[in-house]
Amino acid sequence: MRIVITGASSGIGEALARHYASAGTVLGLISRRASRPPLPGEIVEYQADVTDVPALERAAQDFLGRFGAPDLVIANAGIGVGTRGDDLADVEKLRRVLDVNVAGLAATLAAFAPAMQRAGRGTLAGIASVAAFRGLAGNGAYSASKAAAIKWMESLRAELHGTGVSVVCVCPGYIDTPMTRVNRFRMPFLLPSDEAARRIARAIAARRRLAVVPWQMAAVSVLLRTMPGWLYDRLAARAPRKPRDVPL
Ligand SMILES: NC(=O)c1ccc[n+]([C@@H]2O[C@H](COP(=O)([O-])OP(=O)(O)OC[C@H]3O[C@@H](n4cnc5c(N)ncnc54)[C@H](OP(=O)(O)O)[C@@H]3O)[C@@H](O)[C@H]2O)c1
Repeated sequence: MRIVITGASSGIGEALARHYASAGTVLGLISRRASRPPLPGEIVEYQADVTDVPALERAAQDFLGRFGAPDLVIANAGIGVGTRGDDLADVEKLRRVLDVNVAGLAATLAAFAPAMQRAGRGTLAGIASVAAFRGLAGNGAYSASKAAAIKWMESLRAELHGTGVSVVCVCPGYIDTPMTRVNRFRMPFLLPSDEAARRIARAIAARRRLAVVPWQMAAVSVLLRTMPGWLYDRLAARAPRKPRDVPL
């Protein structure tokens, strides 16, 4: 197996790298920070920012030249920070969150898609979030970015229909990682990152179009999506907010 994962220096991406690493596997790991504990198999690290398209392209060309088309690409790199829609200063945060979570994801998948199409096989996966299903109060940039990521992948899936390349969109609920450890509220159905990686890998192997992890959050997301606006507004207004002082 030849697998590329972005954001493998921490949290879910790091757990996914541990999950997939084995003697027969080549792992291409892309993130801004390097250095992680040694893993079995062949590990190739690329220090790149997913918003730096030329750097991402160089990493992809290097991987493709050495190993050929990957069997799986997981666009996992992402950031989150609390925002308020009534604060002009937060528009800059919105730009950065959209750049990483939407354009960075799109660039990651596009950097490998043509080679995978030529090979006529493989899976392009992206990590969105349950936060995409309704606009969360105090987390508008993140909700908007993940909703856009879902739609981008839906378009990509239709564009690649019949090529042999699948597109899998995974929406995790709360996973225990540095991104959620800053939250000062109780997180329902919180999953350890290793367990999340196992479940995400299962959804990817099954080539699910849209998978919510864990299943309890799938039930919550159905509720969220079907809840009438007047009720959602009341409940969401009272929900705890994401901290707004997280470095990006
Ligand atoms: N934890 C949750 O509850 C949860 C729930 C739903 C969805 N998600 C999504 O899951 C993904 C992983 O999140 P996590 O919880 O594992 O967060 P995390 O522990 O903060 O890890 C984020 C990873 O993304 C990388 N990254 C961030 N910005 C990057 C950039 N510009 N270029 C390259 N890499 C970048 C980071 O690496 P460097 O800093 O080294 O670049 C890091 O490896 C994200 O897309 C997140 O939105 C998480």
